[in-house]
Amino acid sequence: MRDTSLDILFEPLTMSNLAVKNRFFMAPMGHTFGMDQLTDYLVARARGGVGMITTGVISVHPGGGVGERDVATLETDEGISTYAPMVRAIQGAGAKVVAQLNHAGRYAPSWLIGQQCVAPSAIPSRYTGEMPRELSTAETDHLVECFAEAALRARKAGFDGVELCGCSGYLISQFLSPLTNKRNDRYGGDVLGRATFLLSILEEARSRVGDDFNICVKFDAEDGLKGGKVLEDSLILAPRFVHAGADRLHVWSGWHEATRPMLPMFVPRGAFSYLAKAIKGVVDVPVSTVGRINDPAVAADILARGDADLIGMARPLLSDPDFVRKTEEGRTDEIRRCTACCYCFDQLMLGMHGDESVRLSCAINAELGREGEGLLAETGEKKDVIVVGGGPAGLETARVAAIRGHRVTLFEKDDTLGGMLRAAIVPPHKEELKNIIDYYHRQMELLPVTLRMGEAFTRERIDEINPDAIVLATGAGPLIPPIPGIDGPQVSSALDILSDSHPVGDRVVIIGGGMIGIETAELLADQGKDVTVVEMLDEVAADVGPTTRWGMMARIYKKMRIRTSSKVIEITGDGVVVPGRENERETIPADTVVVAAGLESVRDLLEIVKECGIPFYEIGSCTEPGQVADAISDAFRIGCAL
Ligand SMILES: Cc1cc2nc3c(=O)[nH]c(=O)nc-3n(C[C@H](O)[C@H](O)[C@H](O)COP(=O)(O)OP(=O)(O)OC[C@H]3O[C@@H](n4cnc5c(N)ncnc54)[C@H](O)[C@@H]3O)c2cc1C
Ligand SMILES: Cc1cc2nc3c(=O)[nH]c(=O)nc-3n(C[C@H](O)[C@H](O)[C@H](O)COP(=O)(O)O)c2cc1C
Ligand code: SF4
Repeated sequence: MRDTSLDILFEPLTMSNLAVKNRFFMAPMGHTFGMDQLTDYLVARARGGVGMITTGVISVHPGGGVGERDVATLETDEGISTYAPMVRAIQGAGAKVVAQLNHAGRYAPSWLIGQQCVAPSAIPSRYTGEMPRELSTAETDHLVECFAEAALRARKAGFDGVELCGCSGYLISQFLSPLTNKRNDRYGGDVLGRATFLLSILEEARSRVGDDFNICVKFDAEDGLKGGKVLEDSLILAPRFVHAGADRLHVWSGWHEATRPMLPMFVPRGAFSYLAKAIKGVVDVPVSTVGRINDPAVAADILARGDADLIGMARPLLSDPDFVRKTEEGRTDEIRRCTACCYCFDQLMLGMHGDESVRLSCAINAELGREGEGLLAETGEKKDVIVVGGGPAGLETARVAAIRGHRVTLFEKDDTLGGMLRAAIVPPHKEELKNIIDYYHRQMELLPVTLRMGEAFTRERIDEINPDAIVLATGAGPLIPPIPGIDGPQVSSALDILSDSHPVGDRVVIIGGGMIGIETAELLADQGKDVTVVEMLDEVAADVGPTTRWGMMARIYKKMRIRTSSKVIEITGDGVVVPGRENERETIPADTVVVAAGLESVRDLLEIVKECGIPFYEIGSCTEPGQVADAISDAFRIGCAL
């Protein structure tokens, strides 16, 4: 039974030229998919119940592409027939579909577009490091036409509307911002002058597509940059957008260059709905919000408070295409909630910087981009499968194998599921990782997996079950480097500290400044401890993804001392000895020393399993300590191959 407080999410939204069956839409996301793959991916989300889907950026001009190489454009009429089958398939699956139109301006990488990028003014981009060429007035006029023509092509392809990408630092937002638009022609000047480009696009597009085609503008209510466009500007602009032809406004919160974080897990859920609320106060068209809404209750609260009319979800629909259907059917506890780990965005950024091997992927949904392959179809050959380890790797294998019809028995030596994730959720701002544990807990209740909790796997269990296959997912444990004094009573591993099994003194030195060391340091610093991190490399948190790392770095330097390029020589009763400036022995005083020098794989069952002659697989951190994404993608692959 669905909680009645969520009913508000399922009220239709009817505009004169677009009716959406519920209040959810898929927010635009760039991707790396070819047309068939893209269709399968979006159709899966339409089947999952979302009322409307906005595509990722679609280029309107060859000089305005971003990193996604093979993505079809609407730059020419060819795009009409390319997109039409996809549009029909999505509509056939029950959702409306809107094309997001874009020119990247100074964010367009020259390696991709084969020329110098363009912008309102010749001001270098911190994002790409490239210097753009200033557009002439005639070129700007032409780009207005390009957007309007692309809108018409979208209509001809059958789309239900278009969304103009006026956000995130792409060309339209470059025109809107005083930081990047220093023009003296009619496309520059004061706040309204700088809006001429977007207002002209709206008017031209409207005159081509007619009144019965929905036009939305996605824009940043604030750029999030010092000296950029601020909320006061947006309150002036929003009614002008509507007057010029916008039927809807989609409110976002800042540029890729913004100095405030928008995507990582330390951004609170629903953090940006206050911006939509402000815009809603000055217009009478539907306004949508987006950003960190991975929970139906948060979405319903936003609507109930009147902050927005529509709820945009980007990443939450990557991690679970069925988010909306599960909510509608009262199965919210089955949602695989996005953790905001930003792995997906990091992958896309690597692509933008020219790495051709990356594809849009989700750390916790390994099926993303493979929706059309029927990978979870029932197997014709049902097997008895033993899975050893109840961390994410073991749990994902058990889930996939059980869905496919195998008889699965999972052994976990501890009394609780989750593996290292139970430690990972302890440091500040990491609680979203608990979503993964919660998801698998529920899956294990729903699926016919035999759980043998608190039972370390041994040779005897093989004789008992006589399995057809064994999957080892035994994870990793702390790596203890051979430093003199490391056996001292005041020394413990970060994993021990995070499991609360070791008392901690006031002065703490952490050996190792990778993700685990830094996060443990932040936890202890927040508890009022005096913390020093010693790292032998020349940077810390090198294993944290870039989207999360910069915000983390801004935080941690205020909370702890960090000593890079320092290798610990010895641990004594007084503290940790490192080489000083003149290479002399310098002691950093410590009551507690925490070792976070990496992890090593747990492979103690390998020989036993090898000797049995039964097919076996090793997955996750027991092959090589890594991230959740590695564990789950390994597990999914093996679960599908069994
Ligand atoms: C503090 C910390 C923070 C982290 N933060 C992140 C993060 O932000 N993002 C990210 O992607 N990753 C993070 N990680 C890494 C992530 O937790 C691992 O990548 C992931 O847990 C690996 O999954 P796994 O299933 O391979 O191994 P594990 O999670 O280690 O699970 C292995 C399981 O096997 C069980 N087991 C071992 N031997 C036996 C046996 N003989 N019989 C039965 N059971 C056995 C163990 O008890 C354990 O439950 C973090 C890790 C830590 C420690
Ligand atoms: C992988 C990825 C690709 C994105 N691509 C686009 C895009 O093409 N156009 C756009 O306006 N926003 C894009 N965004 C931003 C999202 O639309 C959304 O504003 C942001 O992710 C916050 O929403 P979420 O917390 O629901 O993910 C992208 C975000 C991600 C994670
Ligand atoms: S990769 Fe992480 S942030 Fe992206 S959708 Fe998946 S869980 Fe969410």
